[in-house]
Amino acid sequence: MPAQAARARVGASRVGAAREGTSRLGAACEGAAQVGAVSTILGSCLPTCGEGHTRKPRVRPPPAYTHLTMPGIVLVGAQWGDEGKGKVTDLLAERADAVVRFQGGNNAGHTIVRGRQTFKLHLIPSGILHKNTLCVIGNGVVVDPKVLTDELDELRRRRVDTRSLRISANAHLIMPYHMMLDHAGEAKLGKLQIGTTRRGIGPCYADKAARLGIRVQDLLDEKILKKKIVAALEPKRLSLRPFAKDPRLDLQTITEEYLTYGHRMANYIADTVRLVHERLDAGQTVVFEGAQGALLDIDHGTYPFVTSSNPVAGAACVGAGVGPKDIDEVWGVIKAYGTRVGAGPFPTELDGDLADEIRERGGEYGTTTGRARRVGWIDLVALRYAAQINSLTALAVMKLDVLSGFDRLCVCTRYRGPEGAEFDDFPYHQTMLHHVTGEYVDLPGWSEDLTEVREESDLPAAARDYLQFISDFVGVPIALIGVGPGREEVIWTEAGAGMAGSGNAASAAA
Ligand code: IMP
Repeated sequence: MPAQAARARVGASRVGAAREGTSRLGAACEGAAQVGAVSTILGSCLPTCGEGHTRKPRVRPPPAYTHLTMPGIVLVGAQWGDEGKGKVTDLLAERADAVVRFQGGNNAGHTIVRGRQTFKLHLIPSGILHKNTLCVIGNGVVVDPKVLTDELDELRRRRVDTRSLRISANAHLIMPYHMMLDHAGEAKLGKLQIGTTRRGIGPCYADKAARLGIRVQDLLDEKILKKKIVAALEPKRLSLRPFAKDPRLDLQTITEEYLTYGHRMANYIADTVRLVHERLDAGQTVVFEGAQGALLDIDHGTYPFVTSSNPVAGAACVGAGVGPKDIDEVWGVIKAYGTRVGAGPFPTELDGDLADEIRERGGEYGTTTGRARRVGWIDLVALRYAAQINSLTALAVMKLDVLSGFDRLCVCTRYRGPEGAEFDDFPYHQTMLHHVTGEYVDLPGWSEDLTEVREESDLPAAARDYLQFISDFVGVPIALIGVGPGREEVIWTEAGAGMAGSGNAASAAA
């Protein structure tokens, strides 16, 4: 299919999103020429928009999208990470032609349960479990080559074919000194520490920004690799002084170790931007998989208690090398309650027996560090904010089953500051965010076990009401509901049936 024709599909699926967002006049005006439905509603604002400047409407081909076509879809965490993105990616990957990780590193961890097998992956996208899906580690990811090669070994040991993996030559490498600096930085902060995963993520992204990073492609040239390591170490001498005698910092040792990784990775290293565009140009489906969550975003999250990359949907463009118009849908994955690992504000946090009970039921212990996660009620103020900054078109609500058995469920719809101020919106000021507490709407709980439920209509009325409340408050439809850890333990909603790759969509087609 010629590129131009294939690109016609981009934007067409925004019918749903535009329909939802007609109140966003500016945005709708932009899209009005593209989408028939919207141009009818807002036709009158087309010739002169906003301040009266004239803008020639962009001519777009008529929508070729049908709800059974899988579009370019971004999948992000819409809370503080650990929402269950791995499972949703795994489900979508089944029907996708490519899955691309676009940021973060092995600070992430996803658990995929397949029958009796459990896979714990940190770097390699869960698409790897699908033989025919191209599986990409994009340029925006930071790669610890030891973790990557260990993961490859483990997958091969379990007879998973890894030949479809491709690693961007431009992705940055986590070096031994990044991990040391991460440890040292946290130790220095003492009580103020962020609670990082200590995987070297922050120092690696810092080197990237300082243009001192070592990239995957550098592993293929010994001379360049050595030169770059010397340059990267030079400005760190002072901070690395406590590790001066550590053999891991020896130049020759690092170079040899990383060259070995390079040999092992060589067959996977590629120009991944080109590979992704080839798929898009052929009208194929690409899933862009984020790590962490919106509230850990370095720009939009609870800074400085955040990770060092951008887990929001916009970063899919940068971290995979596509443009905004290559993205058709943005799915936000959430848990039916809240969790957070590490330090930082968490307005709906619970403690005591209730927190322990949710933590135990939900198995809320980190895949990467094993740390007990902080738990709380669902925070709709934060979720509405996440929906905004990601342009969410759908929600996947995971772990609904964990909430069975509570008489009442609390849903945070507003924050209250220490002096009584009310916040309907997520406060931008750090001090305020640290001091607000949640105000809640009380909703009835349900007692039924949900793990066998596969149809939305078979959910207890209270569970349906709980989900409806979330969806209405945030203004985003729910596509998928998780009711257990296994990949079959999901419910595709009616809205989900019309979206990418759902089983319902497939059966509708049949
Ligand atoms: P870093 O990403 O290791 O620098 O850690 C920064 C913050 O992000 C810490 O609070 C971590 O606990 C948190 N974090 C990083 N990755 C994840 C994740 O995958 N899930 C949840 N929290 C994460």
